Amino acid sequence: MVRDNNILVTGATGNVGGALLRQLLARDITPQSLTRDPATANLPPGVPVAIGSQADPAALTAALDGVDSVFLVWPFDGVDRAAEVVAAIAARARRIVLLSSAAVDDTADPQPDPIAEHHARIERLIEDSGLEWTFLRPFAFAANTRQWIGQVRAGDVVRGSHGGAGFTLVHEADLAEVAVRALTEDGHQGARYLLSGPTVHTQIEQVRILGEALGRPLRWQEIPPGEARAAALSWLDESIVDTVLAGYAAMVDNPLPPTGVLEQLLGRPGRSFREWAAEHVAEFTR
Ligand SMILES: NC(=O)c1ccc[n+]([C@@H]2O[C@H](COP(=O)([O-])OP(=O)(O)OC[C@H]3O[C@@H](n4cnc5c(N)ncnc54)[C@H](OP(=O)(O)O)[C@@H]3O)[C@@H](O)[C@H]2O)c1
Repeated sequence: MVRDNNILVTGATGNVGGALLRQLLARDITPQSLTRDPATANLPPGVPVAIGSQADPAALTAALDGVDSVFLVWPFDGVDRAAEVVAAIAARARRIVLLSSAAVDDTADPQPDPIAEHHARIERLIEDSGLEWTFLRPFAFAANTRQWIGQVRAGDVVRGSHGGAGFTLVHEADLAEVAVRALTEDGHQGARYLLSGPTVHTQIEQVRILGEALGRPLRWQEIPPGEARAAALSWLDESIVDTVLAGYAAMVDNPLPPTGVLEQLLGRPGRSFREWAAEHVAEFTR
C-alpha cells in the first residue's frame, strides 16, 4: 500500500541524504533508506534499511515497496542504468526530488562538461517519466572542505591550487531542508532550484575560517600549477578532475554571487560556512 509521506531516502549515509534522514525523523516521518553496506552505515535506530545501490534497479525496486516519494542522489558510476532506475521509480512512486547540480545549463546542448552532462541526463529521464519532480541544483558543498582533513590534522598549512577561487559553500542541512519541503509540501513540482550558500569565500578564507573554529592559525599555501592535477586526484575522480579544476580557475576572477533561492524557500538566511566549520571541528582535530 502506498501512503503519503512514505519516503525513500537514497544516499542516506552521505552528506545531504544523512541530513535529510535526521530532519525527517525530527518531524516524526520515518523514511525508508537504502545503503550498500548496512553494517557500516550507522543509520539511526528504527529506520528501515534496504540493501544495495540506487544505481542498481533491482535493489532500488525492493526499497520502493510502499513508497510515495523518492529523494535521489545519483552516483557518478551509475550512468549506464539510469533509464532503468527512473522507470522503476516511476512505476511505483508519485514524486521525486533529485539532488542534481548547478552545473546543468538549460541553454546548452551538449552540456558544457561531464558533470553537467551526468546530471542533465538523469534530469531528462525524470522529466519524461511522468513523475512529479523537483530538481535541487546546488553549487559547491561546504562538505568539500573535508578534502583538507588530512592536512589540517597534520599541521597548520593547507596546500592547494587556486586559493583565490571564491565559492558560495552551501551547508548540507540547508539542502536537506529544501528537500524536506519539496518531498512533503505541494508547490515544488517542476521547479529547478539553484541553491547556494549565503556568502562567497575564497579557499584562502575557508582555511582561515576553519582555523578560527579550531582555534589554530591555519594558513593557505599555493602549490605550483603543475602539481594541481595530481593534488586534486587525491579527492576527485579522474573523470571529473579537469572539469573541477577549470571551474576553480574560473572562480578566481569571476566567483558566482549567492542566488538567494534557498533563503526565499526557507524564509531565513542560509547557514554560514562559519557555522559548518564550528559543527565539524571534531573531524578536523588530530
Ligand atoms: N560536492 C559538491 O560540491 C556538489 C555540488 C553539486 C552537486 N553535487 C552532487 O551531489 C551528489 C552527492 O551528494 P552527497 O555529497 O550528499 O553524497 P555523498 O556524501 O557522496 O553520498 C552518496 C551516497 O550514495 C551512496 N552510493 C550508492 N552507490 C554509490 C556509488 N556507486 N558511489 C558512491 N556512492 C554511492 C553511498 O551510500 P552507501 O555507501 O551507504 O551505499 C553514499 O553515501 C552528487 O550527485 C554530486 O554530483 C555535489
